[in-house]
Amino acid sequence: MRKPIIAGNWKMHKTVSQSVSFVEELSGLIGGADKVETVICPPFTALYAVRDLAKGKIQYGAQNMHWQEQGAFTGEVSPVMLKDVGCKYVIIGHSERRQYFAETDATVNNKLKAAFVHDIIPIMCVGETLEQREKGDTEAVVEEQVRKGLLDLTAEQVGAMVIAYEPIWAIGTGRTASSDDANAVCAFIRRTIAQVIGSQAAENVRIQYGGSVKPDNIRELMNKSDIDGALVGGASLEAASFVKLIKY
Ligand code: 13P
Repeated sequence: MRKPIIAGNWKMHKTVSQSVSFVEELSGLIGGADKVETVICPPFTALYAVRDLAKGKIQYGAQNMHWQEQGAFTGEVSPVMLKDVGCKYVIIGHSERRQYFAETDATVNNKLKAAFVHDIIPIMCVGETLEQREKGDTEAVVEEQVRKGLLDLTAEQVGAMVIAYEPIWAIGTGRTASSDDANAVCAFIRRTIAQVIGSQAAENVRIQYGGSVKPDNIRELMNKSDIDGALVGGASLEAASFVKLIKY
């Protein structure tokens, strides 16, 4: 059985004090919810502050990292540093990183390998643009991202990680993929992993949908066979709406 995982990607939002308030509020609201794994991904600057608060029911992760352990890479943060601050997860290859910061499938692959070396669970993001979808290229695009991103990873590693299918046209637009369309691509990702990596990894890997997930569409998405969770932007920024997602 794959445990559902709902993760909040805060992107470039929240100061330290806002992050602390969020976690305090969420801790009060979350109650006994333990059927779902709850993850928040604050900006780097707030990770240390949430460390002591986000115990037990709330896990946390980073939104990006470099693949080297240290060195002359101004502005970058290493897996050693994320582990040091207690991150369990790290988002890798978000479409905004691919679009604005020149990330490629090759850098995604380097980062995934580095995450496993340091015992951090990667959440690898994949997804097509609107133009690619309209041309009927969704599966080809996603397959290439999955194959290249997961290159040389072991079946055990792939089975332990998380993949987020985030169609770019659905991110921050209020335009969610229909639950059937989202599930179809998530199922396609699982079949691709079965082919490339193996059936056990495909069975174990958790696949999230992301893109305008809200309290009013989460349940329908989560009821689908191949959707094991959600990666949430906007609706993860308020504890009151995020807790509704966790308690779908
Ligand atoms: P929204 O939920 O704001 O559409 O963002 C999705 C996303 O990019 C999560 O990583």
